[in-house]
Amino acid sequence: MSETIIQLEGINFFYNGFQAIDGVSLSIGPGVYGLLGPNGAGKTTLMKVILGHLRPAAGKGRILGSDLDAGLTEVRRCIGYMPESHCLIPGMDAVTLTSYMGELSGMPRQEAIKRAHEVLYYVGLEESRYRMTDTYSSGMKQRLKLALALVHDPELMILDEPTSGMDPGGREEMLQLIVDIAAKGRMNMIISSHILADIEKTCARVLIMNHGRIVSEQQSLDFAGGDTSIFEVGIKGEPGLFLEQLQGIHAETDRRGLLRLHLPPDFPPMSLFRLALDTGVQIRHFRPSRLTLEDAFVTAIGESHAR
Ligand SMILES: Nc1ncnc2c1ncn2[C@@H]1O[C@H](COP(=O)(O)OP(=O)(O)OP(=O)(O)O)[C@@H](O)[C@H]1O
Ligand SMILES: [Mg+2]
Repeated sequence: MSETIIQLEGINFFYNGFQAIDGVSLSIGPGVYGLLGPNGAGKTTLMKVILGHLRPAAGKGRILGSDLDAGLTEVRRCIGYMPESHCLIPGMDAVTLTSYMGELSGMPRQEAIKRAHEVLYYVGLEESRYRMTDTYSSGMKQRLKLALALVHDPELMILDEPTSGMDPGGREEMLQLIVDIAAKGRMNMIISSHILADIEKTCARVLIMNHGRIVSEQQSLDFAGGDTSIFEVGIKGEPGLFLEQLQGIHAETDRRGLLRLHLPPDFPPMSLFRLALDTGVQIRHFRPSRLTLEDAFVTAIGESHAR
């Protein structure tokens, strides 16, 4: 099997002359990818292009080995899509709707019914599975949409704002389910969100999107690991003399007002405390720098605004 799950090159998409996707090229391998961006960034539009629901004005792509141009009728059976909008059919209970979706994806009826019960149990809707879905709360609808995306055991799941409208408890459970599905099923996923914490909890890799463009690609290792040669230092007192003594060491101030010091290998970090004492300042914060997804997001979005 090919290691590339999704490959896009130079994709443009317009809504009545408004460019919602602007030259997107990307390559997504197996695993869980996050698509992170503010409202209006183009996340939903890009997902619909990947699903073949929207036809790009330019560019090409391959999804699970099939050409975007050729239409994705067959491939769509291997994709589970959890849309942002509500997509439930009124007047149906959850078991009927879920098994119907399974059948639409090519499952034999009996198997679809059996599987519907399983996935509804899995997402925590077993007690409400015979209730009309119109009567479901927002959180229950999100769980049901996850079940609908999962019923036919797809190879790739595309989840658009999976925690939208959920309370904190429900949101945690939804994220946990996603992590569980990804781990157990070795599932390939793309998850969109404008919420950093959701993406951080679920995704190994993150594409940051703004104004229809991918503005940054980050690996979660970058966020989890520390860079031992860069230290964050918070100082109380007048730092002039302290900084003067650090000549030759690259120093910058971050958004929180902390110094980021790039220490060369022969500079023992603990000697900063001696230096502080000698120059009459106190070190109130000291730790190896850890680049967070939030830093990456703020930087990427800031840069793309500046363009
Ligand atoms: N049907 C449409 N007609 C015209 N413009 C649209 C349409 N759908 C989306 N847009 C515009 O395209 C841009 C991208 O929208 P999209 O819904 O893809 O963003 P998004 O990143 O999913 O945002 P959100 O986080 O709010 O869901 C936005 O500026 C939006 O206003
Ligand atoms: Mg959206």
